[in-house]
Amino acid sequence: MLSEMLSATVLGVDGVPVQVEADVAFGLPSLTIVGLAGSAVQEARERVRSAIRNCGFEVPARRITVNLAPADLPKEGTSYDLAIAAAILGASGQLGLKPTRRCALIGELALDGSLRPAPGTLALAAAARSAEVSEVVVPQASVREAASVRDISVRGAVTLGDVVAHLVGRRELPAAEATPIPAWNAPSGVPDLADVIGQPLARRALEIAIAGRHSLALSGPPGIGKTLILRCGEGLLPPLEEREAVEVSRIHSVAGLIDRREPVIRTRPFRAPHHTISMQALVGGIPGPTWGSEPRASRRSPARRDAPVPRGRVGCAAAAPRVGNRDHRARRGRAHPSRAVHAPGGLQPVPVRLARFAPS
Ligand SMILES: Nc1ncnc2c1ncn2[C@@H]1O[C@H](COP(=O)(O)OP(=O)(O)O)[C@@H](O)[C@H]1O
Ligand SMILES: [Mg+2]
Repeated sequence: MLSEMLSATVLGVDGVPVQVEADVAFGLPSLTIVGLAGSAVQEARERVRSAIRNCGFEVPARRITVNLAPADLPKEGTSYDLAIAAAILGASGQLGLKPTRRCALIGELALDGSLRPAPGTLALAAAARSAEVSEVVVPQASVREAASVRDISVRGAVTLGDVVAHLVGRRELPAAEATPIPAWNAPSGVPDLADVIGQPLARRALEIAIAGRHSLALSGPPGIGKTLILRCGEGLLPPLEEREAVEVSRIHSVAGLIDRREPVIRTRPFRAPHHTISMQALVGGIPGPTWGSEPRASRRSPARRDAPVPRGRVGCAAAAPRVGNRDHRARRGRAHPSRAVHAPGGLQPVPVRLARFAPS
């Protein structure tokens, strides 16, 4: 028997809908997951088996094949556990004969069948909306995060049993209220431009850079106030608009940095990475959603402090391939995170002494 559920995966900073198909056939008992499933997805077999058993259902002693489609898209993470379990229950006839509700299922399973939040729930819920389903079921702890996505009904569940009861129409899960966009609070502990003595040119340059979304490099000897002036920039950043706030929150959600109680971020991210930062740490690692300072600072602005030497590729990475302050870079040849960043930084020109090496 065949069954199909909808879930989603993260590609770059975007969610992509994934169909989870399960087939239960005669043959030696086994559970195989195909569809470019990474190691965390392969381990879902053990979590799903235990969760199904501990919720009072049974894993059929048959040959079970689970396919994650599109099969050529690499899948990572634990967010498919719930959909895989539900698909197996559907394919083994344990969801009854009633047609199941059309909803997306997102969440990691614990061995006892309870649901744990998975990183990127906000992006995954947005993917479910793009797949034109009307509702998405997520772990109760992620409800506020998923409910930041508009135009889709979000339902929080505590255990696999709750989800099954919802799918067969026995006990409906309550729909969560949409998470409001919080009011903006000015960042605290940030120096004020009014406290800077003199330096009218640098102050004016900072104001223009912030207002016009330009990058900025201050150059001068140590102790002249470059860092101080750049830090003032944080307090001048305007609050994120609603659309920007959702985008920034989505990136934080994928990076696993979101506060699940207050998931929508209103303050513009500001990063001050050290000048010895590596390329990967600045712009993000290549495989998977390991995001560096810059993507997390999407919608500006990572202040690069005191780079004494423009660090070749790293310096370029922060400021280079950008059209209209938007940046498109390929990861794994597929994901194209786009973001608007501007990079103020401080430079200290250092005298370069050319050493002469005489052969001894
Ligand atoms: N124009 C200025 N107005 C007020 N404080 C200043 C000014 N310039 C430097 N300072 C103070 O001097 C110290 C060193 O400044 P800093 O910004 O770290 O220098 P830089 O980054 O150019 O090496 C800080 O404590 C800063 O508050
Ligand atoms: Mg400094």
